[in-house]
Amino acid sequence: MRVILLGPPGAGKGTQAERITKDYEIPHISTGDIFRYNIKNNTELGKLAKQYTEKGLLVPDDVTNKIVEDRLSKDDCKDGFLLDGYPRNVVQAESLGKYLENKGLKIDHVLNIIVDRDELVKRLSGRRVCPSCGATYHIVTKPPKVEGICDHCGEKLIQRTDDNIESVLKRLEVYEDETKPLVEYYGKLNLIRNIDGNKPVNEVYKEIQALIGDEV
Ligand code: AP5
Repeated sequence: MRVILLGPPGAGKGTQAERITKDYEIPHISTGDIFRYNIKNNTELGKLAKQYTEKGLLVPDDVTNKIVEDRLSKDDCKDGFLLDGYPRNVVQAESLGKYLENKGLKIDHVLNIIVDRDELVKRLSGRRVCPSCGATYHIVTKPPKVEGICDHCGEKLIQRTDDNIESVLKRLEVYEDETKPLVEYYGKLNLIRNIDGNKPVNEVYKEIQALIGDEV
């Protein structure tokens, strides 16, 4: 199964991606995670990406498209994959479309997670992440067992550098201007599956399962 997760920042893409990729046994490809990994390790890509991610702007399309193509060419993607946070504008969607067409492949579902704006701001400002294992928490809705400490590896939790209010508002603006048009783009291809992401995590996941079925 080849799936795209679409939705504004804080919609719960990463949260749902974790469950889908585990149950359906497909690799989770998050461009945001790839950039954060490179920023943490201070690679050339990381140095470039940092200039954009911290301001809530998109990393240039040519760089992002190349990274995704490289990742999709790996062996573990041959039977399917889940793209989280990519494509993020029409240029990226067209690039992905061409890449898949050349390989005789196609996307099966574009899961569009819809969440109210006020809820998005609350989710992002309360999010805490583990810099070591990547686990995600929320200070109100999903707190760790011990305040500020990761349940899985005991590392001190941090706030993402782009979860400050200024970057959050910019990311929401970029979503409206650049990413939201993809709903229409994939709608024309009959691939959009709308999901009410305002519900609790388990209910959102049930809705996703009902839409994509049991095929593995
Ligand atoms: P990226 O990492 O993709 O960030 P994003 O799209 O802004 O999405 P988030 O990770 O913030 O949110 P999410 O939807 O995954 O929500 P989560 O599950 O964590 O991108 C970061 C940056 O990298 C971009 O700004 C850009 O600069 C760059 N970039 C990435 N991809 C790019 C591309 N293709 N092109 C160019 N640049 C790119 O949940 C959020 C919080 O809510 C958590 O605390 C969670 O516990 C909580 N929560 C989740 N679901 C629920 C629920 N149902 N109810 C209550 N709380 C919930």
